[in-house]
Amino acid sequence: MTPAKTSSSLSVKDNRTGKDYEFEITDGTIKAIDLRAMKVDDSDFGLMTYDPAFMNTANCRSAITFIDGDVGILRYRGYPIEQLAEKSTFLEVSYLLIFGELPTQAQLDTWSSDVMRHVYVNEAAKEIIGGFRHDAHPMGMLQATIGALGTFYPESKGDEPDVRYRQMIRLLGKTPTLGAWAFRHMTGRKYIEPDKNKSYAQNFLDMMFSESTIDYEANAVLTKALDVLFILHADHEQNCSTTAVRGVGSSESDMYSSVSAGVGALYGPLHGGANEAVLTMLRGIGSVDNVPEFVKAVKNREALLMGFGHRVYKNYDPRARIVKGAADEVFEVTGVNPLLKIAVELERIALEDEFFIARKLYPNVDFYSGLIYEALGIPAEMFTVLFAIGRMPGWIAQWSEMRDDKEQKIARPRQIYTGYDERKYVAIKGRKAAK
Ligand code: SDX
Repeated sequence: MTPAKTSSSLSVKDNRTGKDYEFEITDGTIKAIDLRAMKVDDSDFGLMTYDPAFMNTANCRSAITFIDGDVGILRYRGYPIEQLAEKSTFLEVSYLLIFGELPTQAQLDTWSSDVMRHVYVNEAAKEIIGGFRHDAHPMGMLQATIGALGTFYPESKGDEPDVRYRQMIRLLGKTPTLGAWAFRHMTGRKYIEPDKNKSYAQNFLDMMFSESTIDYEANAVLTKALDVLFILHADHEQNCSTTAVRGVGSSESDMYSSVSAGVGALYGPLHGGANEAVLTMLRGIGSVDNVPEFVKAVKNREALLMGFGHRVYKNYDPRARIVKGAADEVFEVTGVNPLLKIAVELERIALEDEFFIARKLYPNVDFYSGLIYEALGIPAEMFTVLFAIGRMPGWIAQWSEMRDDKEQKIARPRQIYTGYDERKYVAIKGRKAAK
């Protein structure tokens, strides 16, 4: 369901004063700032809205991604995700999200070459990654190294069109390298240098697993599956991590610092960290026979069914359906992931159970994606890093749209103060003089 497009107005009576007010309704919203007119007296600040977690607040106008959560629709710049996943590539979708139109062949060639020329990373990044403990989580390393890119490119404090373009292609080119190097550090292996002549997905897989027996260039099924997964994760309108990117960017902080904040938000198990949490959950269940007992625990609020539920989708996440299809193709090459049986049984039981039906809980993008990553030999700690690589063009597109939006200002919400009234300071009796 999407807000009605009709314009009209809202008539409101403030029963505190008996005054009547008229608020314009545009795009299914009223401007919260207009409520400030509703005062009890001149000393009154005026009415605010109270909306923890922004459950019912539009914080921007955006033309990038459209979701209809009731029907299960996802479109990037108007193109259905099903068509892009089937026919496009991650670099073409990145161009579409950022510039608003599908590229011509010449534009795509230039774009792809610009991004791939920037897969190389300043050697100082290896020192930063090397400073982490061997058991550091790769999302922590990715957040730090993406933030560090801002120190490698001080010009990013500016935002002229050519400066913004260079930071975009650097971020898209270097994130897979930083992600793969975090993995190499975790596993105590030497860094593999990127290669601009490989495809985006193949370059990443080779930097991760160059000693592997799998020749990813030959294994188009696996590199295609990864490219599709990157497409599916590329943007998702005003999700938690994008809100972080927009918020930090609203202070005119550079693109790297803003995106680094998005990595931090994505890290959480309720957001991008869910794909890793799903594998932990499936391994904990252990077998199909244990599924009913786990579902009982979820219904008793002793556990969350990770990979299920969504703030916007109250229907099947269209991305989850596509991931499930991609999994079948990957498993033909790698063999079926034994955890798939548990996931399918979990989904079957949940979709028939009143607890989940009443709450409109369906599989989201994270429910099956980890099974593909694991089949590609990627460890669970790296799943959210792959989510971040995929979401990079979306964060960049949203950051750009925010910076160009004349309605936007520095993000600075208000609060309802619940603390003490003024009170007098009382020094500790016989207190020793501060050193
Ligand atoms: C992503 O926003 C985006 O677009 C995100 C994302 C993107 O592409 O950027 O789509 C990616 O983050 C997908 C979501 C990944 N997270 C998980 O899979 C973690 C498990 N899911 C839940 O934590 C939850 O569903 C959220 C966080 C995703 C959504 O939570 P909401 O919208 O705040 O919903 P809620 O917590 O208010 O839940 C409503 C009811 C509650 O029950 P009651 O208290 O009303 O009885 O449903 C229950 C919740 O307890 N519920 C769940 C559940 N999710 C919600 N119960 C069990 N298992 C779950 N997974």
